[in-house]
Parts: sequence; C-alpha cells; structure tokens
Amino acid sequence: MKKIALFGTGYVGLTTAACLAEMGYSVVGYDVNEAKIDQLRQGQIPFSEPELAPLVERNISAGRLAFTADCGDALNDAEMVFICVGTPTSPSGAADLSQVEAAVRLIARSATRSLIVVLKSTIPPGGSAEHFAEILTGELLPPLVAHIVVNPEFLREGSAVHDFFFPDRVVVGAWDRPAGEQVAALYSPLHCPVLLTDPATAQLTKYASNAFLAAKISFINEVGRIAEKVGANVYAVAQGMGLDERIGGDFLEAGLGYGGSCFPKDVKALAAIAERHGSPSALLRAVMEVNAGQRRLAAEKLHDALGGLGGKNVCVLGLAFKPDTDDVREAPALDVISMLCDRGATVRTYDPVAASRAQEVLPPHSRLHYCEDAYEAAKGSDAVFIATDWKQFRDLDWNRMGSLMKGKTILDSRGLISPLQMQEMGFRCLALSS
Ligand code: UGA
Repeated sequence: MKKIALFGTGYVGLTTAACLAEMGYSVVGYDVNEAKIDQLRQGQIPFSEPELAPLVERNISAGRLAFTADCGDALNDAEMVFICVGTPTSPSGAADLSQVEAAVRLIARSATRSLIVVLKSTIPPGGSAEHFAEILTGELLPPLVAHIVVNPEFLREGSAVHDFFFPDRVVVGAWDRPAGEQVAALYSPLHCPVLLTDPATAQLTKYASNAFLAAKISFINEVGRIAEKVGANVYAVAQGMGLDERIGGDFLEAGLGYGGSCFPKDVKALAAIAERHGSPSALLRAVMEVNAGQRRLAAEKLHDALGGLGGKNVCVLGLAFKPDTDDVREAPALDVISMLCDRGATVRTYDPVAASRAQEVLPPHSRLHYCEDAYEAAKGSDAVFIATDWKQFRDLDWNRMGSLMKGKTILDSRGLISPLQMQEMGFRCLALSS
C-alpha cells in the first residue's frame, strides 16, 4: 500500500487526505498545530464540510488514515509528500509563500529517503516551484533526491468530497516525467482526463481557471446592471447564454458576487503576477472592481428602498460566503453588514452554521445582533436582505416572516426566492439587478 504524507490539515489537506485514504492509500496527515491533531485523531473536523466527517472516521477506523504533529513520523516510509498549506494574500496582493517554504525546508531536513514532493497549495508560476526545487536539492542529505510535482486542487468548499471523486480533470506538472506519471497514477481509479505538463503550466492552469470563473461571475453581474437599465431579466439572460455550450450555464448566477478563500486571493495574485512581469491585466482589475461594486450596490439598494438607513432595522440572512459551509473568509455578507451598521442601520442576522466564525472576524457593534433563527432575525425589521443562497431560506414560512417584520421589503441578492410568489404574499421583492 503506497504511503502518502500530507503537510497541512486545512480544508484542502484534510479533504485530500481522507479521500486518498478512501481510495486505499495509507495516509498520514501532519500539522504543526498539536491541538488540531488531537481533535482529528478523535475524528473531530474543525470546519463544516458535508460528507467529510464520516469519511475521516471510517478511514481512521480502517487504519488507512492517521494524524501526527511529528514530522519524522509523517515522513517515515512516505513515497510522496503533499504540501497543502495556505498561500494567503500578502500586503502587495501576491501570494504569501512562507508556509510552503517552511514545509519544503522541514521536509528537506527530515527526509530519510528519496521522495516526490507534491505541491497542492496554489503557488504562482514564474520562479516559485524552481525556488522550492533548489531548497530541496540544497538541503537534502546526499544521495537523497526529491522531485517537485505540481498538482493543483479544484475542490469547491461545500462539495469538496464530491469534487475529489468526480473531477473534470486532474492536472499534473513535473520536470521529471516519471515522477509526474507516478502522481497521475494515483488518480487513475477516478477515470478522468489527466493533463501531464510542466510545473509552470500546471500552476497557471489553476490561477487561470479560478480567474476565469470569477470573470464569468463579474461579467453576469455587469450584465445585470445593464439589464436593470433596459428592462431585461438577468436570470433569463443567463439562462439564454448558458444554453450555448460554448458559454455554459455554470457560474452565471448574478448576485452579490464571489467571496471565499480562493477567488478573491487568486484573482488578486494573478493580477500581481501579470503586473510583476510587466503585463498588467486590465481585465482582472475590472473583475475585482465589479465584484466589490456588487457589495456597495446592495447597501445602496437597501438605502434607497428604505428611504435611508439611519434608524432602520435590516434582517440579514446568511453570513457564509456560499451555502453548505461555515467559511466567512471574504464573505460578501460581512462587508454589507459593516456598511449597513456604519450608515446607522440595526442589523439582526442569522446563518445556519457560520455565525460564530463571523463573530470572530466582524468587529462587535452595538447595533449588530446574531440571532438563533431566521424568524428571530426578522422580528421588527424594515427589510430582509438575503446574502447567502442557503436552501433553507427558500423554504422558510414567509407568511410568518412577514407577520414578524415591520416593513415588507425583501432584497434577494442571490435570486433564491420567487418574486411573484413573494408579491402575492404582499412583499415588495427587490433584486440586485432585475
Ligand atoms: C473555488 C473553485 O470553484 C474551485 O474549483 C477551486 O478549487 C477553489 O475555489 C480553490 O481554489 O480552492 P470555492 O471558492 O470553494 O471554489 O467556491 P465556488 O463554488 O467556486 O464559489 C466561489 C464564490 O463565487 C462564492 O462566493 C459563490 O457564491 C460565488 N458565485 C459562484 C457566484 O456569485 N455566482 C456563481 O454563478 C457561482
């Protein structure tokens, strides 16, 4: 049974570890955070991700998945080491690679056999993989050898386990072809197209994929603004566009725009890469500007609908950056809440799972209240603002919601509920774009 070590047990590392174990490999997850390792050993997952907890539990019990805070233990006998640590945005907009570099150095100093180092973390092309290869060559004890292989992840939070087992493609970038082939072979039971390429191409494929999806979102949001001016329906326009197979219907949902730990970071980093190489990207700048504008537009719409925000009560439904996750990193809802509070509104908010994470990042405000459920949040509100498309918001008893509210305005920024049905119930139903 091939032994694989994974450095970093965040959402990408833990999902990859559990899924590789489920495929039958012997997997050890390593993390510097001992408390987290203790939790994981007991099958406790530190974030909310559907299907992951039973997968972790099952594979620990089957003896295929273990966790350690001891680097030597993790590397013992491992033929491959996946690096899955974070690459957050640095103040310049570029990716901060310090965690990856620390992991590479640790591996180089602790390895007792030749191995393949798989970069799963999102690493910018243009010298970084080369830099890590030099560190390995410089610090490994001869005659040990380590080949770098770039293997970007394409997992969406909220459906990461499903995405792992049903990938559209696997991309593997290597200078050493046999090393690349070994990594590609790991995924052969998944029967998906595998692209074997050089590291820079694999790295850029990851950035370009995220940036393209983000661009699709900003594009449809821009069309939404035009739709409103000319009396068209952006959701129907998206449907009409998406039926063209060359365009495709995915990622054309107009709304509050993208958030999360990936799109904002990766679009910014790709723009920084372009800038650094003397080829600034006007398109990527526009993608970011349109995205930021959607958040301001939401606050403006509420302001206009309520005749100002001072002294008004707004119920905000949803805090997570998307449904089925408790992740609030770069969540659009948080920005809009700050804008509403700054402009004098009282905000009562509810999210099925993300409230405690939101409280960790949103500064406390005397006019910001976290509620136990949507009905509690709706009490006395002049307007309800739907910020995240959790399905359970669609299924709320909207007659009950209406009876608890002071006003009857709904701003549905995710196209979640039927405006016609809402109007029949007496609501004034607004959208970010028509
Ligand atoms: C994204 C990519 O989809 C994954 O392929 C990639 O692996 C991952 O980033 C990553 O780099 O790790 P994720 O950020 O988890 O995954 O979530 P998405 O489902 O892509 O949604 C991102 C944001 O776009 C969310 O805020 C979502 O609400 C928004 N969105 C998505 C829209 O506003 N409109 C759409 O039509 C689709």
